[in-house]
Amino acid sequence: MPLLEVESVSKAFGSLKALDKVSFKVEPGEIFGIAGPNGSGKSTLFNVITGIPFGPDSGRIVFDGVEIQRKAGHKIAWLGLARTFQRETSFDKLTVFENVLVSGAYGKPNRSPEEERAGALEALDIVGLPRSRHGRLAEELSVFDRKCLMLATAVAMQPKMLLLDEPASGLTRPEIETSIGLIRRIADLGVTIVLIEHVLTFLMSLSQHLLVLNQGEVLTIGNPKDVIADARVIEAYLGTRKAAV
Ligand SMILES: Nc1ncnc2c1ncn2[C@@H]1O[C@H](COP(=O)(O)OP(=O)(O)OP(=O)(O)O)[C@@H](O)[C@H]1O
Ligand SMILES: [Mg+2]
Repeated sequence: MPLLEVESVSKAFGSLKALDKVSFKVEPGEIFGIAGPNGSGKSTLFNVITGIPFGPDSGRIVFDGVEIQRKAGHKIAWLGLARTFQRETSFDKLTVFENVLVSGAYGKPNRSPEEERAGALEALDIVGLPRSRHGRLAEELSVFDRKCLMLATAVAMQPKMLLLDEPASGLTRPEIETSIGLIRRIADLGVTIVLIEHVLTFLMSLSQHLLVLNQGEVLTIGNPKDVIADARVIEAYLGTRKAAV
């Protein structure tokens, strides 16, 4: 049974169809890539799946056997679905450790304070944020460390599935390499990953299936090598601001 099933999901902003009857399935244990030009609806797709900040106008979304398209964001999180955001998102005036603790308490309720602290430490270890930085304010971190922190806040929810929105944006090549290793490590822990990325080499090296969105519609889904060679995909990418690399 797929872990996530998205069936004919649509979302409009006024007359703009940001998502138009989008359907796909993600199997447990895989890394599923999503590509597409700027404004093609990638982040909107994550918004409607997680209910943060809004659900879809129409369509059906089933996560781990449960229909979620009308559920509130926190209830979806409690089922085991976590996300990160395109822009680094954290409580700037809280420390690194406090950020992860808050997120773990939100996403995985009914744990004891000891379990929450242990979970936060484990999440920070997984993303490689050293203990010397746990007491720093989030606003003091570098771009890369802020991305790692955001990842740790999602990992602290101990999700079954993690949705990552452009984790490599704004990173240097060596940092991108480190991020690829990090995402593999999280996947190896048994977390199913859906990954939005503009950097196609990043998607190619990680994903088993690749979906390309174009103007709110699914252009194609398949094996990454075939998808990248598809003339319609090349055409959709040509002339876009962030060119595929
Ligand atoms: N809250 C909103 N209100 C109005 N329009 C929106 C809203 N969110 C997104 N849009 C519009 O919907 C379309 C899809 O946006 P979205 O952010 O999902 O694209 P994207 O594929 O993530 O783009 P990028 O690669 O630049 O991140 C765009 O035209 C965008 O301007
Ligand atoms: Mg986006």
